Amino acid sequence: MSRTRIVAVRGRRVWDSRGRPTVEAEVELACGATARAIAPAGASTGSLEAIDRRDGGARLGGLDVGGAVAAISDEIARALSGLDAADQEAIDARLIELDGTPQKARLGANALVATSMAVAWAAAAAHGLPLWRWLGGAEARTLPLPEIQILGGGKHAAGRLDVQDFLLVCPGAESFAQALEWTAEVYHAAGALLAEAGRLQGVADEGGFWPAFEGNEQALELLLRAIERAGLRPIEQVAIALDVAASSFGRAGRYRLAAEGRELDTAGMIELLSGWIERYPIVSIEDPLAEDDGEGFRAFTARFRGRVQIVGDDLLVTSAERVRRASAEGWCDTVLLKPNQVGTLSETRAAFEAARAAGMGAIVSARSGESEDVTIVHLAVGWGVPQLKVGSFARSERMAKWNEALRIEEALGRRARFAGAAALVRRR
Ligand code: PGA
Ligand code: ZN
Repeated sequence: MSRTRIVAVRGRRVWDSRGRPTVEAEVELACGATARAIAPAGASTGSLEAIDRRDGGARLGGLDVGGAVAAISDEIARALSGLDAADQEAIDARLIELDGTPQKARLGANALVATSMAVAWAAAAAHGLPLWRWLGGAEARTLPLPEIQILGGGKHAAGRLDVQDFLLVCPGAESFAQALEWTAEVYHAAGALLAEAGRLQGVADEGGFWPAFEGNEQALELLLRAIERAGLRPIEQVAIALDVAASSFGRAGRYRLAAEGRELDTAGMIELLSGWIERYPIVSIEDPLAEDDGEGFRAFTARFRGRVQIVGDDLLVTSAERVRRASAEGWCDTVLLKPNQVGTLSETRAAFEAARAAGMGAIVSARSGESEDVTIVHLAVGWGVPQLKVGSFARSERMAKWNEALRIEEALGRRARFAGAAALVRRR
């Protein structure tokens, strides 16, 4: 322990991929190892998420993080000083106890998650190991199936499309590297098709193309054509995943689809998605209904379980307790894991373990506000989470993560395994 004793913790303000302030934590150990990590930030956040602490007021849109940064350098630094960075559970328990609120509102989940991640990196560095190896030991050798955004909508593109993410998955790829190569072909084909049609408006927050379309189905149509133009076979090699992020436009059983110019009830939403599942090679749907519509989730899952993977994001907010409830109530079959939704690595891990115990699938996910931080890639490989969602195939805060996975795949060499089609929770 003496080598991995924490001797200093510092917070600093850095900037995220949307040009907004965010929190970085830096941890120093007795052996001299230092490490740092940066908190991400969401835009389509679930109402039960841990609180991203911001200063408020007029400056920087109220989004400055002076309070969270000070919390790291003062209170958190004092509380963690002398503790063993190699004991992540004890560190995280101390952070949770120190904050003392159910949603980490006092110190801020951004302060907590940056610290929790930086401690993990520091412990790995003290042992001379990459984080994935420190977390997973010799068993860690599976590269996750990536879900990569091709088109962006929802809150990441000023509501131009209602559906937030139109993503590509490559279940037929043989390696992570091949999945990225296929994705690159589809991404560029989609951009070219949009430009040819005069429908390219720019890129959305996660790097996906932002199309000027009148309806959501046009985006599905375009993605299918991009797959064909790239010369790939739908379902067999590549397929479509959606993050509807329905909490962004649905409440109390009413769904206001701006791009469609209509309002649907829960049954109408399920019918709309059912038509898409019939007509397009869709294998996964995240947040098909809003976070307050557990009954809708249950009805959707009863109907489509086995046919498509059904993922809970805003509904589950990376909470082990809500994952257990989802399993008991039949809400969905797969859990999205976002460390900053809950605040610490140990709690994120607990949500994953709860999913595993319930026979549910899992996806580690980035946020729409990101940075060069690559911690989530190491969590996926180290913990053996079979899927990874990072955003699109452009912008360096996204590419940093995809490229890190390539390095890990290379480091594993012939021992590397690719999660592939088996990662998806569905019948083949
Ligand atoms: P967010 O969206 O990071 O803006 O909340 C990502 C997602 O919904 O998966
Ligand atoms: Zn989501």
